[in-house]
Amino acid sequence: NLLRCPLQNDSTCRERVCPQSYACTLLGYSLQKYGASPDFIARIKQLEAHMSLGRKLFRLGNSSDALEAAKRAIHLSDMVLRFCITVSHLNRAMYFACDNILWAGKSGLAPHMDQEKWSQRSFRYYLFALIMNLSRDAYEIRLLMEHEANGKCQRGGGGDSPRVGEDHRLQQLILRLKLQVRLLCHVLRDNPPLLLDLAKNACDIFIPMDKLGLYKTNPGFVGLCGLTSSVISILTIVFPWLKLKP
Ligand SMILES: *[C@@H]1O[C@H](CO)[C@@H](O)[C@H](O)[C@H]1NC(C)=O
Repeated sequence: NLLRCPLQNDSTCRERVCPQSYACTLLGYSLQKYGASPDFIARIKQLEAHMSLGRKLFRLGNSSDALEAAKRAIHLSDMVLRFCITVSHLNRAMYFACDNILWAGKSGLAPHMDQEKWSQRSFRYYLFALIMNLSRDAYEIRLLMEHEANGKCQRGGGGDSPRVGEDHRLQQLILRLKLQVRLLCHVLRDNPPLLLDLAKNACDIFIPMDKLGLYKTNPGFVGLCGLTSSVISILTIVFPWLKLKP
Protein backbone atom coordinates (compact mmCIF):
# COMPACT_ATOMS: atom_id res chain seq x y z
CA ASN A 1 0.00 0.00 0.00
CA LEU A 2 1.54 3.21 -1.24
CA LEU A 3 0.02 5.46 1.38
CA ARG A 4 0.37 3.28 4.40
CA CYS A 5 1.30 5.49 7.32
CA PRO A 6 4.49 4.42 9.02
CA LEU A 7 3.80 5.96 12.37
CA GLN A 8 0.48 4.31 12.97
CA ASN A 9 1.75 1.32 14.96
CA ASP A 10 4.91 2.91 16.17
CA SER A 11 5.57 3.12 19.88
CA THR A 12 6.58 6.76 19.44
CA CYS A 13 2.92 7.32 18.68
CA ARG A 14 2.21 7.79 22.33
CA GLU A 15 4.26 10.96 22.26
CA ARG A 16 3.68 14.13 20.35
CA VAL A 17 4.51 12.59 16.95
CA CYS A 18 1.19 10.84 16.91
CA PRO A 19 -0.89 13.46 15.11
CA GLN A 20 1.28 13.00 12.07
CA SER A 21 -0.24 9.62 11.47
CA TYR A 22 -3.73 11.08 11.57
CA ALA A 23 -2.72 13.73 9.11
CA CYS A 24 -1.05 11.14 6.94
CA THR A 25 -4.11 8.90 6.98
CA LEU A 26 -6.32 11.85 6.19
CA LEU A 27 -4.10 12.85 3.29
CA GLY A 28 -3.90 9.30 1.97
CA TYR A 29 -7.65 9.00 2.08
CA SER A 30 -8.24 12.23 0.20
CA LEU A 31 -5.61 11.35 -2.38
CA GLN A 32 -7.16 8.00 -3.09
CA LYS A 33 -10.59 9.52 -3.24
CA TYR A 34 -9.80 12.34 -5.63
CA GLY A 35 -7.03 10.69 -7.67
CA ALA A 36 -3.72 12.56 -7.61
CA SER A 37 -1.01 13.07 -10.22
CA PRO A 38 2.13 10.85 -10.12
CA ASP A 39 4.24 13.86 -9.21
CA PHE A 40 2.04 14.58 -6.27
CA ILE A 41 2.11 10.96 -5.11
CA ALA A 42 5.90 10.99 -5.41
CA ARG A 43 6.05 13.96 -3.09
CA ILE A 44 3.83 12.20 -0.59
CA LYS A 45 6.09 9.16 -0.76
CA GLN A 46 9.04 11.39 -0.09
CA LEU A 47 7.17 12.91 2.80
CA GLU A 48 6.35 9.50 4.17
CA ALA A 49 9.98 8.44 3.97
CA HIS A 50 10.95 11.69 5.61
CA MET A 51 8.62 11.00 8.50
CA SER A 52 9.47 7.36 9.19
CA LEU A 53 13.16 7.22 8.37
CA GLY A 54 13.68 10.60 9.88
CA ARG A 55 12.60 9.34 13.24
CA LYS A 56 14.22 5.95 13.14
CA LEU A 57 17.52 6.02 11.29
CA PHE A 58 18.61 9.60 11.14
CA ARG A 59 17.75 10.68 14.63
CA LEU A 60 21.32 11.58 15.32
CA GLY A 61 21.49 13.62 12.14
CA ASN A 62 18.84 16.04 13.41
CA SER A 63 21.21 17.81 15.78
CA SER A 64 23.89 18.31 13.17
CA ASP A 65 21.28 19.48 10.65
CA ALA A 66 20.13 22.09 13.13
CA LEU A 67 23.73 23.16 13.74
CA GLU A 68 24.31 23.45 9.99
CA ALA A 69 21.16 25.56 9.70
CA ALA A 70 22.43 27.75 12.53
CA LYS A 71 25.73 28.23 10.71
CA ARG A 72 23.87 29.29 7.58
CA ALA A 73 21.63 31.68 9.53
CA ILE A 74 24.66 33.47 11.02
CA HIS A 75 25.24 35.07 7.61
CA LEU A 76 21.82 36.69 7.30
CA SER A 77 22.09 40.43 6.81
CA ASP A 78 19.15 41.49 9.00
CA MET A 79 20.36 41.53 12.60
CA VAL A 80 17.07 40.58 14.25
CA LEU A 81 16.44 37.73 11.84
CA ARG A 82 20.01 36.55 12.24
CA PHE A 83 19.66 36.48 16.02
CA CYS A 84 16.23 34.82 16.16
CA ILE A 85 16.90 32.17 13.54
CA THR A 86 20.40 31.29 14.77
CA VAL A 87 19.32 30.99 18.40
CA SER A 88 16.26 29.02 17.36
CA HIS A 89 18.39 26.50 15.44
CA LEU A 90 20.85 26.22 18.33
CA ASN A 91 18.00 25.48 20.70
CA ARG A 92 16.65 22.98 18.23
CA ALA A 93 20.05 21.25 18.15
CA MET A 94 20.01 21.04 21.94
CA TYR A 95 16.47 19.77 21.85
CA PHE A 96 17.41 16.96 19.47
CA ALA A 97 20.49 16.15 21.56
CA CYS A 98 18.33 15.76 24.69
CA ASP A 99 15.81 13.80 22.66
CA ASN A 100 18.55 11.39 21.55
CA ILE A 101 19.76 10.93 25.10
CA LEU A 102 16.20 10.28 26.16
CA TRP A 103 15.83 7.78 23.36
CA ALA A 104 18.98 5.99 24.53
CA GLY A 105 17.44 5.79 27.99
CA LYS A 106 14.15 4.42 26.70
CA SER A 107 15.76 1.87 24.42
CA GLY A 108 17.74 0.41 27.32
CA LEU A 109 21.15 1.66 26.21
CA ALA A 110 21.38 3.83 29.30
CA PRO A 111 19.09 2.20 31.85
CA HIS A 112 19.95 4.37 34.85
CA MET A 113 19.30 7.81 33.43
CA ASP A 114 16.73 10.17 34.84
CA GLN A 115 14.26 10.14 31.97
CA GLU A 116 11.97 12.72 33.51
CA LYS A 117 14.81 15.22 33.82
CA TRP A 118 15.94 14.78 30.22
CA SER A 119 12.40 14.99 28.96
CA GLN A 120 11.87 18.29 30.80
CA ARG A 121 15.17 19.58 29.49
CA SER A 122 14.33 18.65 25.94
CA PHE A 123 10.95 20.37 26.14
CA ARG A 124 12.57 23.47 27.59
CA TYR A 125 14.85 23.81 24.57
CA TYR A 126 11.92 23.15 22.28
CA LEU A 127 9.98 25.92 24.00
CA PHE A 128 12.91 28.37 23.64
CA ALA A 129 13.19 27.52 19.96
CA LEU A 130 9.49 28.22 19.50
CA ILE A 131 9.69 31.51 21.38
CA MET A 132 12.50 32.54 19.02
CA ASN A 133 10.41 31.51 16.03
CA LEU A 134 7.44 33.50 17.28
CA SER A 135 9.65 36.54 17.88
CA ARG A 136 10.86 36.26 14.34
CA ASP A 137 7.27 36.07 13.07
CA ALA A 138 6.34 39.11 15.15
CA TYR A 139 9.31 41.02 13.79
CA GLU A 140 8.46 40.20 10.19
CA ILE A 141 4.84 41.15 10.77
CA ARG A 142 5.90 44.49 12.24
CA LEU A 143 8.16 45.21 9.29
CA LEU A 144 5.44 44.38 6.81
CA MET A 145 2.87 46.44 8.70
CA GLU A 146 5.17 49.44 8.72
CA HIS A 147 5.83 48.98 5.05
CA GLU A 148 2.15 48.71 4.31
CA ALA A 149 1.29 51.78 6.43
CA ASN A 150 3.98 53.84 4.71
CA GLY A 151 2.67 52.79 1.32
CA LYS A 152 -0.82 53.90 2.33
CA CYS A 153 0.42 57.32 3.44
CA GLN A 154 2.24 57.86 0.18
CA ARG A 155 -0.86 57.02 -1.78
CA GLY A 156 -2.56 59.70 0.27
CA GLY A 157 -5.65 57.73 1.25
CA GLY A 158 -6.83 55.63 4.16
CA GLY A 159 -4.43 56.99 6.74
CA ASP A 160 -6.27 60.07 7.94
CA SER A 161 -8.50 59.60 10.92
CA PRO A 162 -11.57 61.75 11.54
CA ARG A 163 -11.00 64.79 13.77
CA VAL A 164 -11.36 63.93 17.44
CA GLY A 165 -11.33 66.34 20.34
CA GLU A 166 -8.73 66.27 23.10
CA ASP A 167 -11.18 64.57 25.46
CA HIS A 168 -11.79 61.72 23.08
CA ARG A 169 -8.46 59.99 23.59
CA LEU A 170 -10.08 56.61 24.16
CA GLN A 171 -12.00 56.86 20.93
CA GLN A 172 -8.82 57.75 19.14
CA LEU A 173 -7.04 54.81 20.71
CA ILE A 174 -9.77 52.41 19.65
CA LEU A 175 -9.66 53.82 16.16
CA ARG A 176 -5.92 53.33 15.98
CA LEU A 177 -6.25 49.82 17.34
CA LYS A 178 -8.88 49.00 14.74
CA LEU A 179 -6.59 50.31 12.05
CA GLN A 180 -3.71 48.18 13.34
CA VAL A 181 -5.87 45.06 13.43
CA ARG A 182 -7.04 45.71 9.89
CA LEU A 183 -3.45 46.24 8.82
CA LEU A 184 -2.45 43.01 10.55
CA CYS A 185 -5.17 41.03 8.80
CA HIS A 186 -4.17 42.58 5.51
CA VAL A 187 -0.50 41.70 5.98
CA LEU A 188 -1.25 38.11 7.02
CA ARG A 189 -3.68 37.60 4.16
CA ASP A 190 -1.07 38.79 1.70
CA ASN A 191 1.64 36.53 3.15
CA PRO A 192 0.39 32.96 3.47
CA PRO A 193 3.86 31.58 4.41
CA LEU A 194 4.08 33.99 7.32
CA LEU A 195 0.52 33.22 8.41
CA LEU A 196 1.17 29.47 8.29
CA ASP A 197 4.46 29.79 10.17
CA LEU A 198 2.78 31.86 12.85
CA ALA A 199 -0.12 29.41 13.13
CA LYS A 200 2.25 26.45 13.31
CA ASN A 201 4.42 27.99 16.00
CA ALA A 202 1.37 29.11 17.96
CA CYS A 203 -0.02 25.56 17.85
CA ASP A 204 3.33 24.00 18.70
CA ILE A 205 3.92 26.14 21.74
CA PHE A 206 1.04 24.56 23.66
CA ILE A 207 2.79 21.19 23.59
CA PRO A 208 5.94 22.10 25.61
CA MET A 209 3.92 24.47 27.81
CA ASP A 210 1.63 21.61 28.72
CA LYS A 211 4.48 19.14 29.26
CA LEU A 212 6.43 21.59 31.39
CA GLY A 213 3.35 22.41 33.43
CA LEU A 214 3.50 26.10 32.52
CA TYR A 215 0.05 26.13 31.03
CA LYS A 216 -2.02 23.01 31.53
CA THR A 217 -4.62 22.23 28.93
CA ASN A 218 -6.43 19.00 28.23
CA PRO A 219 -4.90 16.23 26.08
CA GLY A 220 -7.56 16.74 23.44
CA PHE A 221 -6.52 20.33 22.90
CA VAL A 222 -2.82 19.42 22.80
CA GLY A 223 -3.60 16.69 20.29
CA LEU A 224 -5.56 19.11 18.14
CA CYS A 225 -2.66 21.59 18.21
CA GLY A 226 -0.26 18.83 17.21
CA LEU A 227 -2.53 17.74 14.40
CA THR A 228 -2.93 21.29 13.08
CA SER A 229 0.81 21.83 13.24
CA SER A 230 1.44 18.57 11.40
CA VAL A 231 -1.07 19.43 8.69
CA ILE A 232 0.68 22.78 8.23
CA SER A 233 4.13 21.19 7.97
CA ILE A 234 2.79 18.67 5.46
CA LEU A 235 1.34 21.57 3.47
CA THR A 236 4.72 23.31 3.40
CA ILE A 237 6.43 20.13 2.18
CA VAL A 238 3.86 19.45 -0.52
CA PHE A 239 3.68 23.12 -1.59
CA PRO A 240 7.23 24.44 -1.00
CA TRP A 241 6.26 28.05 -1.77
CA LEU A 242 4.23 28.08 1.45
CA LYS A 243 7.40 27.70 3.50
CA LEU A 244 8.66 30.85 5.18
CA LYS A 245 12.13 31.80 4.00
CA PRO A 246 14.93 31.92 5.02
C1 LIG B 1 11.65 27.37 13.91
O1 LIG B 1 12.09 28.00 12.73
C2 LIG B 1 13.09 27.30 12.01
C3 LIG B 1 13.53 28.17 10.84
O2 LIG B 1 12.49 28.66 10.10
C4 LIG B 1 12.54 25.94 11.59
O3 LIG B 1 13.53 25.21 10.91
C5 LIG B 1 12.06 25.16 12.81
O4 LIG B 1 11.49 23.95 12.43
C6 LIG B 1 11.07 25.98 13.60
N1 LIG B 1 10.58 25.28 14.79
C7 LIG B 1 11.31 24.97 15.86
C8 LIG B 1 10.63 24.24 16.95
O5 LIG B 1 12.46 25.27 15.99
